[in-house]
Amino acid sequence: MKVLVVGAGGREHALVWKIIQSPKVEKVYVAPGNGGMKEAERVNIPVHEIVSLADFAEKEKIDLTVVGPEVPLSLGIVDEFKKRGLKIFGPEKIAAELEASKVFAKEFMKRHVIPTAEFDVITDYVEGEKIVKSGKYGFPVVIKTDGLAAGKGSFVCETQQEALNALDLIINKRKFALAGDRVVIEKFLPGKEISFTVITDGTNILPMVTSLDHKRAFDGNKGPNTGGMGAISPCPYVNTEIYRRIIDTIIKPAISGMLYEGRKFTGVLYAGLMLTEVGPMVLEFNVRFGDPESQAILLRLESDLVDILEGAINGFSPGLKPVWDKKPSVVVVLASGGYPGSYEKGKEIKGLDNLPDDVVVFHAGTEYKDGKYFTAGGRVLNVAAKGETLSEAREKVYAAIEKIHFDKMHFRRDIGVGK
Ligand code: AMP
Ligand code: GLY
Repeated sequence: MKVLVVGAGGREHALVWKIIQSPKVEKVYVAPGNGGMKEAERVNIPVHEIVSLADFAEKEKIDLTVVGPEVPLSLGIVDEFKKRGLKIFGPEKIAAELEASKVFAKEFMKRHVIPTAEFDVITDYVEGEKIVKSGKYGFPVVIKTDGLAAGKGSFVCETQQEALNALDLIINKRKFALAGDRVVIEKFLPGKEISFTVITDGTNILPMVTSLDHKRAFDGNKGPNTGGMGAISPCPYVNTEIYRRIIDTIIKPAISGMLYEGRKFTGVLYAGLMLTEVGPMVLEFNVRFGDPESQAILLRLESDLVDILEGAINGFSPGLKPVWDKKPSVVVVLASGGYPGSYEKGKEIKGLDNLPDDVVVFHAGTEYKDGKYFTAGGRVLNVAAKGETLSEAREKVYAAIEKIHFDKMHFRRDIGVGK
């Protein structure tokens, strides 16, 4: 088989790394990929050029395409490929709306009684100001841009002024352009934040092992929100009872609700959840693998990922049951200093040779030139390992990180600590 992976980050490197291990796969392409994805051939097409990607897949007779990021899914890459009879893993555009529109997701959850924070949808500033000033949701209050905003469209506002500033930014200043045409104002949910990932064929679900992201930039969960600074698997907060409630009150009703509404959902459903006093509640739905959660998950998958991806497309066969390594995994993101704000690129990365065999380095934002690696993004590398225990996995990862260096390298030292 020839497989095409769409995307360029650590998540896509993990997908490439896992897919090439399948005995069915002869060759993996990645569009556009990054300098570290040595297992694959890079194709110079950006992720949003869905017609060019389909042209490439047609020309190269790609047997399976796997999409990493949400943008091509929301643009309808799956519809474009299916129209041409090309096999692709992921939801169609109308199903991807679960991530691409927070208004759709919130109203969908309300229709299907899926636990989520109380909310209002507004389209103008005065309306929003009235709700914020009424104190209806108290403080903090959460203000969210409807459309995709590269993870920057949600604001947890401690005070009335902060909430008004967020509304002003989205509605009056048009910071997110059309994505900000509608705004969700919702109640703040206190609790522990986790994510939960399943793969579905539209009817049946295959839960992945649990994982936990570390979203804040600095140790002790301080600093700005990022795309994720590290992940561990399993998630220490999900016991059997919580697991059952997530499946029964969130995942199953979401999948059957989408089917009922004529938006059959196939692919990855990755729910951002808050474990509150009254049970797990949904913060957001994503229609793709998490980054870096999927690196922690895929490291523990012993089964052939391609069988699972094909199962999601064709309908799962009854016997399909993924086998997981019991050993926990840890992934630490090495980022460029300044990320998630502005940062410099083009720094030479040293120390990637001679790392132990049981440490895996996924490249997230690198370029390769004249035999050397250089930084090319905010999140640069993901250093990952499994261990008999979480602390053994941590020790392996942090010992490897000691050997890696680039100017202004930043990482959290507490991924998985105290868990
Ligand atoms: P979202 O874009 O919906 O994932 O929100 C981004 C981040 O804001 C989440 O990862 C949470 O940390 C936080 N957040 C979003 N909604 C809420 C909420 N209702 N209560 C508490 N925190 C929230
Ligand atoms: N780690 C957060 C995300 O993938 O959205």
